[in-house]
Amino acid sequence: MALNGIEVRTPLTEEEWTRYYDLRWRILRQPWQQTGPDRDPTDDMAIHRMVCSADGDVLAVGRLHRVDADTGQIRFMAVAEGRQRQGHGSRLLVALEQAARELPVRTLILQAREAAVPFYQHHGYRQVEKTFLLFGEIQHYLMQKDLPT
Ligand SMILES: CC(C)(COP(=O)(O)OP(=O)(O)OC[C@H]1O[C@@H](n2cnc3c(N)ncnc32)[C@H](O)[C@@H]1OP(=O)(O)O)[C@@H](O)C(=O)NCCC(=O)NCCS
Repeated sequence: MALNGIEVRTPLTEEEWTRYYDLRWRILRQPWQQTGPDRDPTDDMAIHRMVCSADGDVLAVGRLHRVDADTGQIRFMAVAEGRQRQGHGSRLLVALEQAARELPVRTLILQAREAAVPFYQHHGYRQVEKTFLLFGEIQHYLMQKDLPT
């Protein structure tokens, strides 16, 4: 999918995968002095998407995996610093929701950082419950959306 040279796709080359995980780590881990690399045991079974600029910069990354027959989970959504609130997170989420419909799953869940809750509400997710505190300070909320058929 290309719009003004902006593309949403799966990382392909080793270099793209490196940049994919690097952005994820820089946005979601580095500010809390976590040590890299930020790989998760379920990365291998997940569907990954990234938003790239016309110049090939990685602007946003995120992933989806199946948790049961009807449900998928979105995790590790991260938009580059200085590129947030420009619609890239929305492009990414729409692409992951499309992938979820193709799996197919009917419901999506995610653990939203408190600051990201309005973003997911904007996309039709409802807050289910307050869940865990990450790194002793980032409150998370379980959110859910039933995909339109
Ligand atoms: C949360 C995040 C993924 C959202 O992506 P984004 O590209 O910044 O968001 P978009 O520009 O697509 O936002 C679309 C709409 O969502 C809502 N929204 C997004 N971020 C918001 C915020 N911080 N506060 C209130 N509303 C917000 C707005 O309605 C926005 O539309 P508008 O900008 O025209 O008002 C991104 O900001 C990010 O990576 N944040 C840091 C890491 C993080 O928290 N990741 C999520 C972990 S659960």
